[in-house]
Amino acid sequence: MLKNLNLKKKFTIVLLLILAFALSISGWILSSILIERAEDEIAAKALTLIDTISSVRVYSVDQITPELSDNLDNRFLPQSISAYAAREVFEILRKQPKYNDYFYKEATLNPTNIRDKADEFETKIVEEFRSNKELKQVNGFRSLASGNIFYIARPLKVSQEGCLKCHSTYDVAPKSMIDIYGKNNGFGWKMNEIVGAQIISIPGKRVINQARQSAVIIILIVFIVFIAIIVLINIFLRNQIVAPLKRLTRIAEEVSTGHLDLQFEPPSNDEIGSLSKAFKRMQLSLAIAFKKLKENPDSK
Ligand code: HEC
Repeated sequence: MLKNLNLKKKFTIVLLLILAFALSISGWILSSILIERAEDEIAAKALTLIDTISSVRVYSVDQITPELSDNLDNRFLPQSISAYAAREVFEILRKQPKYNDYFYKEATLNPTNIRDKADEFETKIVEEFRSNKELKQVNGFRSLASGNIFYIARPLKVSQEGCLKCHSTYDVAPKSMIDIYGKNNGFGWKMNEIVGAQIISIPGKRVINQARQSAVIIILIVFIVFIAIIVLINIFLRNQIVAPLKRLTRIAEEVSTGHLDLQFEPPSNDEIGSLSKAFKRMQLSLAIAFKKLKENPDSK
């Protein structure tokens, strides 16, 4: 098929094929690398956040709860609860536009505050932590109608006897707390039991879309550069090869029709130049041979 095409077209077709092949392979690799990077970035963010919020919890249990727990029977102070502190801190963070689609939940199987009830997906995570005590963290993507959500989760364990004051049976819990949360849920927890999981969720859509966009822009730039290269190669081919060859062909035609004294100079010192020099020598030899033939028409 290539046989009937001229040099320029052949080159262009081959270069376009290379372009299509190179762009599809590199585009695929590039977008997977960028998306992987974006996912790592989300994971790193989520990790920092869950570390921070865990620290808030520890601070609250160690330094706030002991200070505020004496008077709980008379007046309930949510500020004494580490779960409350963690949630409040996260809500303040979420007020910043760049964090307003981040979520934090202390997903619990039998929660004090019904809002913390683990859904089906979260229950599976909690069960995973309960069945494998060595497991300290799980993360991954969860697909929701709103897009893929990255989540990172850590087990919530009843690690201190003090927790059981409010989470074992309702009769030992502060009365002021029962008045607010009731007697029906958030009790019956045991020492060292994993009761739930801290889960931070970050939507991946924005970052992943940005990664896709960057991939498209890079591919577009490579495409434009490649097209420019093809155009330049075409111009070079025309000036350096096709035009001199065409000229040489015209001269050969002239010479073949008897114009043996046609003068021409080699266009350059490259292979085409050598060809035209060889051709010039052949033209000379032909002229001499013809001359001899004319002078001595009978000789063989
Ligand atoms: C003074 C009572 C009290 C103590 C002590 C206490 N909690 Fe709570 N806990 C609560 C209350 C009340 C809530 C609900 C707070 C809210 O409305 O967000 C809660 C919420 C939680 C939650 C979120 C899920 C849910 O039940 O709503 C977890 C997990 C939790 N507590 C674990 C612990 C652990 C672990 C300890 C010990 C380190 C502990 N709590 C100590 C009263 C207490």
